[in-house]
Amino acid sequence: MKAAGHDATVCPQGFVSRPMEKNDLPQILEIEREVHFTPWGEQAFLDALTTGDVLPVVLVAEEVVGYGVLKILWREAELLNLSIAKSWQRQGLGRFLVATLLQSALRYGAAQVFLEVRESNTEAQALYRQMGFDIIGSRKAYYACPDGSREDAWLMRWQEKGCGDAA
Ligand SMILES: CC(C)(COP(=O)(O)OP(=O)(O)OC[C@H]1O[C@@H](n2cnc3c(N)ncnc32)[C@H](O)[C@@H]1OP(=O)(O)O)[C@@H](O)C(=O)NCCC(=O)NCCS
Repeated sequence: MKAAGHDATVCPQGFVSRPMEKNDLPQILEIEREVHFTPWGEQAFLDALTTGDVLPVVLVAEEVVGYGVLKILWREAELLNLSIAKSWQRQGLGRFLVATLLQSALRYGAAQVFLEVRESNTEAQALYRQMGFDIIGSRKAYYACPDGSREDAWLMRWQEKGCGDAA
C-alpha cells in the first residue's frame, strides 16, 4: 500500500504541512542532529520515502521546522519519529503534527497508533497524553544515553474513539 501522506494542510495558526520531499533532507538532518541523541541518518529517511510511510513536514516561511514519520501497518500504525527544531518548540507545532499524523492514520484504516518514548522525555509524553495516547507498557534499556548507560522506554497507544471500548 502506498501511504505517501496527505495534501498540504494549513492550521489556524498558519503553519503549513505537506508531504516530505527528498530535497527537504538537508534541513531535516540538521534538525535531527539538533534534537536527538541518536539521530536518524539520511538512509533511514530515504527508506521511509520509498516505502511510502506517512511523512509530513511543517513549514514556516517555506523552511522545514518539523516533521514526523508514521509507518502504516495492517489496521495499526507506528509513530517512528517526531521532531520540531529547537527554536520552534513550544509553539503548538508538535500538536499540529501529531493531529495531522493521526488523521492520516485513520485515512489509511489504522485505528490504533503506537510509539515508544524515553522515560525521561516528559515533554513528549505530555504532548502525547494531550493528544489521547496512554502508556500501555515499557521496554527495558531501549535507548542509548550519552553516559553510555541505557534508558527504558514507555510504550504508548492512541486508539480511535470507540475502538477497544468493549475490551
Ligand atoms: C516533543 C516535541 C515534538 C514537542 O513539540 P512542540 O512543538 O514543542 O510541542 P507543542 O508546542 O505542540 O506542545 C504541546 C504540548 O506538549 C507538552 N510540551 C511540549 N514541550 C514541553 C516542555 N518543554 N515542557 C513541558 N511540556 C511540554 C505540553 O503539554 C504542550 O501543551 P501546552 O503548550 O498546552 O502546555 C519537541 O519538543 C521535540 O521535537 N523534542 C525533541 C525530539 C523528541 O523528543 N521527539 C519525540 C520523540 S518520542
